[in-house]
Amino acid sequence: MRINRHYGELQDSYLFSTIAHKVAAYQQAHPEAPVIRLGIGDVTRPLCPAVTEALSAAVREMGEKATFRGYGPEQGYDFLREAVREYYGERGIALDLHEIFIRDGAKSDLGNILDLFDTDNTVLVPDPVYPVYVDTNRMAGRQVRYLDASRENGFLPMPEEGVRADLIYLCSPNNPTGAVYSWEQLKAWVEYALEQNAVILFDAAYECFVSEPGLARSIFEVEGAKEVAIEVCSFSKIAGFTGTRCGYTVVPQALAGGKLNKMWLRRQTTKFNGVAYVVQRGAEAVFTDEGMKEIQQNLDYYRANAAVIAAALDEAGVWYCGGKNSPYIWLRCPNEMGSWEFFDWLLEHAHVVGTPGEGFGPCGKGYFRLTAFGDAERTKEAAARIKAALATL
Ligand code: MLT
Repeated sequence: MRINRHYGELQDSYLFSTIAHKVAAYQQAHPEAPVIRLGIGDVTRPLCPAVTEALSAAVREMGEKATFRGYGPEQGYDFLREAVREYYGERGIALDLHEIFIRDGAKSDLGNILDLFDTDNTVLVPDPVYPVYVDTNRMAGRQVRYLDASRENGFLPMPEEGVRADLIYLCSPNNPTGAVYSWEQLKAWVEYALEQNAVILFDAAYECFVSEPGLARSIFEVEGAKEVAIEVCSFSKIAGFTGTRCGYTVVPQALAGGKLNKMWLRRQTTKFNGVAYVVQRGAEAVFTDEGMKEIQQNLDYYRANAAVIAAALDEAGVWYCGGKNSPYIWLRCPNEMGSWEFFDWLLEHAHVVGTPGEGFGPCGKGYFRLTAFGDAERTKEAAARIKAALATL
């Protein structure tokens, strides 16, 4: 037996597990500290009524012999695939039902999709970015090449001449920086991928936060993208499904002559037995008129939180970006502090938990992420404490 030696090349634990352990240790040493967590991007608004009603109805169906369901289609029930298709259709993107695959969230498919690609592919990953892209590739022994994102390029790296790529990860709105690609910028990526014969893995998990014009919510808004891109999306952030688990992946037929779509179906039918019927009914309700209206209220609630955090940082004179088209605020650590140093300092002086930028890649050094997904009152309290703590520096 030989174990996968590539696990030895990873950090000891996943970023958000490391943070959870650090916070637990701090709380054990200071049980009186009123800690507020603005670290992991987990939602706090409950599922909306349209969703909970659909979930309840589906549970009742499962309890009746006439409507009970056993194994479902591995790629998802047609009713949900149809609802996703319409969601894209409203934005002028025509998808075939067979291009839509339902599964349990973005994180798992971002790793699973790598089953379709050889380990000697050259992988380009923007830095900083969601750590799952890098870790899943390293687990398989792939070499990862970083694309540097910085204040100078607005945290939106563009294709570089002379750089080879087979797989390209793009996350827009970006986690952690909140930066969003425009249509023109994505067009340049699509052209580059066509020229390189590469595939873009586009993570659209935060698309619902885009509110400014000219910014893309899907890579398929760009002509030619179906020939080069796979899009991964989730109900976690749009509808509070972080604990309920549901998402979808679009693998176009136009990509690699339909080969990747066929291979993905083969992979899913072999390794996955589908998302629970009840959960898929809940997800379907997100796209109803009522569901859409209700989730907009939740998204506005998070947007208001982002504005509260941003106002506190403005008053404290700290540089930041994000928050407008994304639920994340990305700030420069004050006084040249390192990311982990600021994490400890903020926990100690404001009892607020954030995420060290360095955890998202080397270009995140000296930066820090705060999430707007918290409870509104606690977010106000956290913002006031952050401002007060920064004033002591
Ligand atoms: C984050 O905080 O970056 C996300 O919540 C993590 C995730 O979506 O898995």
